[in-house]
Amino acid sequence: MKKVLIVFGTRPEAIKMCPLVKEFKAHPDSFETIVCVTGQHRSMLDQVLKVFGVVPDYDLDIMRTQQDLFDITSNVLLGFKKIIIEEKPDIVLVHGDTTTSFAAALAAFYLHVEVGHVEAGLRTYNLQSPWPEEFNRQAVDIVSDYLFAPTEVAKQNLISEGKNPDKIFVTGNTGIDALRTTVRDDYKSELTDWAEGSRLILITAHRRENLGEPMHNMFRAIRRVMEEYVDTKAIYPIHMNPQVREAAHTELDGFDRLRLIEPLNVVDFHNLMARSYLILTDSGGIQEEAPSLGKPVLVMRDTTERPEGVEAGTLKLVGTDEKSVYAAFKELLDSSTTYNSMAHASNPYGDGFSSRYVVNYVSKAYRS
Ligand code: UD1
Ligand code: UDP
Repeated sequence: MKKVLIVFGTRPEAIKMCPLVKEFKAHPDSFETIVCVTGQHRSMLDQVLKVFGVVPDYDLDIMRTQQDLFDITSNVLLGFKKIIIEEKPDIVLVHGDTTTSFAAALAAFYLHVEVGHVEAGLRTYNLQSPWPEEFNRQAVDIVSDYLFAPTEVAKQNLISEGKNPDKIFVTGNTGIDALRTTVRDDYKSELTDWAEGSRLILITAHRRENLGEPMHNMFRAIRRVMEEYVDTKAIYPIHMNPQVREAAHTELDGFDRLRLIEPLNVVDFHNLMARSYLILTDSGGIQEEAPSLGKPVLVMRDTTERPEGVEAGTLKLVGTDEKSVYAAFKELLDSSTTYNSMAHASNPYGDGFSSRYVVNYVSKAYRS
């Protein structure tokens, strides 16, 4: 029996790690599965735990309003150290590129515990974009003993950095496992009723490097375009970050075809994605989900670590300039050729059973 300690702290990590928690827990003869949440996010994390019915064994509960990277890093490092010492796991599993993942992986490394990185190998090779995530994921990969890469592209990144190919496993992305369980044909809600008969635009934004002027630019562009196209309606579940909320309310309040709402639970959000006409976002996870659903995404960033979606044609990088967001959004509404070239389903991220592959690889690693 091996002890697996799974740690995560934010909404997207939870969406991608809960399916893995469930898969490990489905093998109680082989694994004792312990779940620690750092609480880097609070209500946005709790929403996901509730949907998946995952009850953590530990909750570091670190979130503070306007927390900075020092707060998150030091609180996770010291808090998670205690959990590792108490639980003595055989392996710690972290996800992606958050500061929770970085600090938790570092704690495991300092205590000589093996680390497995789920969603390893994503890269922009630009440490400023996304910031600080590019640093976080590269740092986690340095200390990881097992690298679960979602795609061949990610695997090749790791190989080109000199990582041991025997420790790299291509699994797909566990986010697609989640998506497989949430989208329903018969989904209906007050929001879908409200949007009925219009082209539904879905908006999210939160990246640290976009806070301030870039975010104001993006929102101004979106509003200008929507004012011109009366057949559009938009739903924007605003991230809980007070700086994001301030920018969103400043630029988008008082426009009745655009609804600013609280973060949606993942079932509602995935189903709204499935019913949307197009998506404007700076999110990472949404870039992975949208190709499966065949939804065009204008990515309001200068770089992406998800080239698979750009290659597939569903994602377009449009930066954060008011002019470029305005032009790209307008073109997608105007031109059926552009729209149709983006709106086709393709899924570079696996068959929705990625968690199973991660568990199989961990099992094998401990048998050999
Ligand atoms: C974090 C991750 C980012 C990830 C994003 C997903 C880092 C450095 N950043 O960024 O990689 O893409 O999560 O959303 O790890 N807040 C609440 N309630 C919540 C969540 C957040 O009030 O449930 C507010 C708090 O004021 C908090 C702020 O949002 O201080 C920012 O949260 P934080 O986790 O520091 O950064 P994110 O921008 O969410
Ligand atoms: N999401 C959600 N509710 C929302 C907005 C997004 O459940 O109101 C989901 C979305 O489907 C994706 C994830 O949250 O799975 C993305 O989270 P976020 O954009 O906060 O982080 P990132 O992926 O950029 O790290």
